[in-house]
Amino acid sequence: MRLLSTRMLLVSGTIVVATCVSISIVSGDGREGTATATAAAERRDRSGAEAAQALRNGRETFRLDTFGDEDFWGGTLKLHRAIEGVKFGGVGAGVSPATALAVGLKVDVDALPPAVVNALRAGAVDLNDPGVTLQLLKLNAVVGVTGFPNSDGSLKSVGIQCALCHSTVDDSFAPGIGHRLDGWANRDLNVGAIVGLSPDLSSVATLLGVPEDTVRTVLASWGPGKFDAELFMDGKAFRPDGRTAATLIPPAFGLAGVNLHTYTGWGSVTYWNAFVANLEMHGKGTFFDPRLDNADQFPVAARAGFSNVRNEPDLITPKLGDLHAYQLSLPAPRPPQNSFDHAAADRGKDLFNGDAKCATCHVPPLFTEPGWNLHLPEEIGIDGFQADRAPDHRYRTTPLKGLFTHVKGGFYHDGRFATLADLVNHYDSFFSLHLSDQQKRDLVEYLKSL
Ligand code: HEC
Ligand code: HEC
Repeated sequence: MRLLSTRMLLVSGTIVVATCVSISIVSGDGREGTATATAAAERRDRSGAEAAQALRNGRETFRLDTFGDEDFWGGTLKLHRAIEGVKFGGVGAGVSPATALAVGLKVDVDALPPAVVNALRAGAVDLNDPGVTLQLLKLNAVVGVTGFPNSDGSLKSVGIQCALCHSTVDDSFAPGIGHRLDGWANRDLNVGAIVGLSPDLSSVATLLGVPEDTVRTVLASWGPGKFDAELFMDGKAFRPDGRTAATLIPPAFGLAGVNLHTYTGWGSVTYWNAFVANLEMHGKGTFFDPRLDNADQFPVAARAGFSNVRNEPDLITPKLGDLHAYQLSLPAPRPPQNSFDHAAADRGKDLFNGDAKCATCHVPPLFTEPGWNLHLPEEIGIDGFQADRAPDHRYRTTPLKGLFTHVKGGFYHDGRFATLADLVNHYDSFFSLHLSDQQKRDLVEYLKSL
């Protein structure tokens, strides 16, 4: 009877309650060992169940939570009006599904009702009709974008999610349409082109202190697979060589065990989640980082007061724990068995861990340094432009698992090495490794196998 009531309390109560009750059982009936073991097992079950629930919550947040950012993307930028087009009361031609797919947006086939799937399969859906995009948005089928509909079917607003940039689909139904792949970088996504659809970029122009036309030029310069998170801190849109300052969208899988994140090591995963949700997505939460008060390095952020953001109610902070857990739970995917030469990869592994000295920084199996995983630009033989846009003026050793998922756009933060062969050639000359052509090929096959 007593044990039964313990269980009932465990179902609805808290761990604290459970602990108290287990103590009363121990002192009450003397079945000390059994009662303690049962309580411990129940606590374990409970922590397992709670962990599973945390991952489900985190996944929901990653995929579907806008954190209230529709007030910015719809309310301020009026992006929904460009999506619906004049026919539905907005502006311009509207965004058809064909256009949406062309700028790299992805469609989640699992969110589509069978009737829509069948119609798509039969070619009975007009992919040039913006009205279809509105329906897809209503179904939450456009990965990372949520439409908020009016009762007449037009859009009231639109918001974005983490999944916009850090998920793609497996193309199992058609190119751009398939099952979600959370954590994969969407290297097709042209963020600049999408934001550039906005009929009103005056708020961004005001933030950056430049004319709206300049904002549009900058957005058009990013290209597919890139976004510039630091632009809204330092206002630097172009590198000294005149090319875009935007960086490639990185994967968000395989991050457990890795200390610092982003290409330049701004902070931990959860630091960066709070940063992005508040400062980039314009969700409504709380963010604190006095490093952004450094007006020499971050003039835009210092002016805008990004170092100390407070919103009531806070729609972000309560979700950070589960979002963090979910991201850490995403394993890096394994490359298809036939996608690399196994014998060459085995030889490449020896080089990676030995003569080529890669593993001194890319320490397996994390492939970054356990500890403080940052390096000065001169340690890896590149310029310091991007490093100098972050508080530590350094580059973070990139974890390398699942490289095969993001070859589009190239390697290093800005994609400066178009291929892995180019990257290996850089290391070969910078570190004077004197690798033979065969050895370089072996190293590349190993990187493809990670
Ligand atoms: C508009 C595209 C975009 C959106 C939306 C976005 N990110 Fe990112 N994310 C990026 C880019 C670009 C970087 C690289 C930034 C840098 O290094 O300066 C990045 C970096 C990261 C990293 C670091 C990865 C690593 O290897 O260290 C994590 C983790 C991450 N984002 C998670 C999230 C989460 C969680 C959300 C939602 C709260 C989110 N991102 C929303 C584009 C985006
Ligand atoms: C001194 C430390 C260090 C050594 C040694 C080193 N790397 Fe790196 N590696 C880095 C850093 C830091 C970056 C991030 C550079 C950037 O994004 O600009 C990086 C990036 C990479 C990337 C790009 C990953 C991506 O997603 O873009 C690959 C691949 C890579 N290294 C492979 C190697 C190989 C192969 C070797 C050995 C020949 C090697 N590294 C040696 C520190 C190192």
